[in-house]
Amino acid sequence: MSVISGKKILLGVTAGIAAYKTAFLVRLFIKAGAQVKVVMTPAAKEFVTPLTLSTLSKNEVISSFTKEEDHSNQWNNHVELGLWADLMLIAPATANTLSKMAKGHSDNFLLATYLSSKCPVYFAPAMDLDMYRHPSTRENFDILTSFGNTMIPATSGELASGLSGEGRMAEPEDILKFIEDHIAESLPLRNKKVLITAGPTYEAIDPVRFIGNHSSGKMGFELAAAARSLGAEVILISGPTHLQNPNEEINLIRVQSAVDMFEAATKFFPEVDIAIASAAVSDYRPKLSATQKIKKSAETMMLELVKNPDILASLGEAKKHQILVGFALETENEEENAAGKLQRKNLDFIVLNSLNDSGAGFKSETNKIKILFKDGKTKGFQIKSKTEVAGDILNEIILLSNE
Ligand code: CTP
Repeated sequence: MSVISGKKILLGVTAGIAAYKTAFLVRLFIKAGAQVKVVMTPAAKEFVTPLTLSTLSKNEVISSFTKEEDHSNQWNNHVELGLWADLMLIAPATANTLSKMAKGHSDNFLLATYLSSKCPVYFAPAMDLDMYRHPSTRENFDILTSFGNTMIPATSGELASGLSGEGRMAEPEDILKFIEDHIAESLPLRNKKVLITAGPTYEAIDPVRFIGNHSSGKMGFELAAAARSLGAEVILISGPTHLQNPNEEINLIRVQSAVDMFEAATKFFPEVDIAIASAAVSDYRPKLSATQKIKKSAETMMLELVKNPDILASLGEAKKHQILVGFALETENEEENAAGKLQRKNLDFIVLNSLNDSGAGFKSETNKIKILFKDGKTKGFQIKSKTEVAGDILNEIILLSNE
């Protein structure tokens, strides 16, 4: 999955012949899972039609401050659009637009949107070779990069003028790759390996029956997706759930029982930097699992159970450089029980869910957590979606790994 998947991209098209390539660019962004909105300078419409770009981006293309078509006298809101974007790309960026951007002019909608944006801005220059190497253009590149914008350099080749040299806009595939690599480099969990346990475990009684629990696995899968999108290499070891792998780049290992999960987790633990145990592991399993379906006979039946290995406690014992995080789902003496587990299992922090909080726990889409750290500090959070909770937990891990 691309790092731009889910991102909101604002593409600013200016009046260069390379504008025709933006149709391909929009398609590449959409295929990579991004949302795209396009703004154009009025002159750019001579080079590629708004109809083409609005069809490909599935959004209206804006090129002026007023809604011309419906004569509604309404303003297009450049501030709203600038704030909507997760990233802005000006491509092709002509010498004229770059000069105006460098000086802070806002005499068209694209420039006003650029000035209003708070997101990272990339620009891909496209112009004739002499314009590209002119000292004023070079100075504008420097000014714009000093403002924190990122330049996607032009390449050499045949130019629209018939001359050959530097000034061709980078190819759409290369622009996409440049942006993806640039984002990946800045992700806080790049070069980190994360192990996550998730879901319930099923402990077989016979071939058709098991002891299990109501864990959906959602919290663990959200953590895996969030860790991956923050740049980590993720190994997700999950008990039986109906959930799909949220990202094909996550190494999802499906297991059934606590013993299976224990074997997988202890195998991978030495090679990871961070481990998060969110699985609801059965504490016990039947001593014997019948090979044939057990027939009903007597009025009562005894099932002898033996203790399962405590996966997290074993990881705590084996822990060296790793950051280790556990969960505690408690119904009484919440903080005290969670603090006990934090210490016994040698964790860096434990995420406490209280079943007494409505909207927290196994089956719900939301969760309300409190984090207890090994130094005794605690941090409470509001009720949030499990996606947001995953973000909060990983944030705390990033803070710890930067210490
Ligand atoms: N855990 C584990 N292996 C087990 C039991 C628990 O890895 N056999 C992990 C869970 O994934 C969770 C943490 O330990 O991160 C705490 O789990 P919990 O079930 O709340 O605690 P237990 O240690 O099982 O204690 P109890 O059931 O007595 O509350």
